Amino acid sequence: MKSNIGVIGLSVMGMNLALNMADNGYKVSIFNRTTSVVDKVMEEHGHENFIPTHSLKEFVDSLEKPRRIFLMVKSGAPVDMLIEQLIPLVDKNDIIIDGGNSYFKDTIRRTKYLKEKEINFLGVGISGGEEGARFGPAIMPGGDKEAYSYLAEIFEKISAKAYGEACCKYLSTDGAGHYVKMVHNGIEYADMQLIAEAYTLLKRVAGFSNEELHNIFEEWNNSELESYLIEITSNILKVKEDNKYLLDIIMDKASQKGTGKWTNLEAIDLGVDISVITAALNGRFMSNLKDERIKGERIIEAKVSKLEDFNIGREEFVGLVKNALYVSKIVSYAQGFKLLSVAEKEYGWDFNFSEIAKIFRGGCIIRAKFLNDISDAFKEEEHIDNLMFTKFFANEINTRLTDLRELVSIAVQSGVAVSAMTSALEYIDTYRTSQSSANMIQAQRDYFGAHTFERTDKEGSYHFDWTASEKN
Ligand code: 6PG
Repeated sequence: MKSNIGVIGLSVMGMNLALNMADNGYKVSIFNRTTSVVDKVMEEHGHENFIPTHSLKEFVDSLEKPRRIFLMVKSGAPVDMLIEQLIPLVDKNDIIIDGGNSYFKDTIRRTKYLKEKEINFLGVGISGGEEGARFGPAIMPGGDKEAYSYLAEIFEKISAKAYGEACCKYLSTDGAGHYVKMVHNGIEYADMQLIAEAYTLLKRVAGFSNEELHNIFEEWNNSELESYLIEITSNILKVKEDNKYLLDIIMDKASQKGTGKWTNLEAIDLGVDISVITAALNGRFMSNLKDERIKGERIIEAKVSKLEDFNIGREEFVGLVKNALYVSKIVSYAQGFKLLSVAEKEYGWDFNFSEIAKIFRGGCIIRAKFLNDISDAFKEEEHIDNLMFTKFFANEINTRLTDLRELVSIAVQSGVAVSAMTSALEYIDTYRTSQSSANMIQAQRDYFGAHTFERTDKEGSYHFDWTASEKN
């Protein structure tokens, strides 16, 4: 009997996805470039539905048609190499699926290349880490819709379920799935940075202990902030090793694998402000300048205030941080979805934002209760310019904005950098300013470069001889 699907690449994500499919009753062929890994997997995690294979040909021949070949290898060159090796082995209409964190432009290129050879290619974003892959990830598929119909059942079965619905929905053509996953990761960076800022404010400005912080985050997880990242933050805060809090001895240098950087490069390319996500990326860059920051602390002196100077109690401060975190979180999602809406036009995709929010509700790292509200808001006001303008979120922001403003002001005066929260506030203030300062920019551009400007009192494009009066 032939296998229903095959997985190539048996590292953590690939192996767990294969196990997930096998658990769901599918016969899964498995293959790995270093073939001893196949035997090791069979020894350690062998599943009755696994068919181990030791050459690509044996692997391909073991699959029912149209073949469904899931690549779970490192993004970049390894994907291209594998595709080249598969081309002579597969038949027309077979489907190659890339489930890695691939760059969406590579996915667009590969789709086109394989289409010329009448081979289908799907670019699928998968989120949820090891646990998600094993028991239910969020799945973001992009590519040919008909080819996807051969995968829909498997994907929906293995994916996480939230509120009874599968966290998997066909998104759009070619690179759409990997694009949405990339934006998911950008939002993930922002979410994490915002939580880290809330933590540092509560610790450094108000002096809460780790035990108290654990309780605060636990409480927040029963509110509008309820989410996976808040939950694990609360858990992290109570972990001790040799009687010391593990968090307190973790080096404050954050690493990254690159998807957050892609989101930012892409936003710059499309001219979209995703400042909260950018602040999160910059936060990681700056965190790595540990030695320089140690010097900086000595060299740059700052007169900073303490919480006592603000006439505000500790409990009230917790409330401010909570509201500021929530509003900033809304802004980071608003920026992520704005990027998606611009990308949709740029790359000819057809997104349904309400459905994308639904996919994010379970399995993935950014899963959160308020994604229900995002999904509802986009359903009600599908063509809205910005998530912040929907009735629900405008109200959420309006009732808490003063708190965000007050908190950022306290942070500034306390000398505690909260770049993501500050960026969120500035994004809101920029968005609610009908008269910006760009008239000055346009005047300057026209002054030094005759770049012309539009006027508010009449139509057309104008240049003014700014130096005429100087010449006279
Ligand atoms: C997910 C995550 C995952 C991500 C890593 C780390 O959705 O499961 O986004 O895909 O790659 O968690 O990413 P960084 O190393 O860039 O922080």
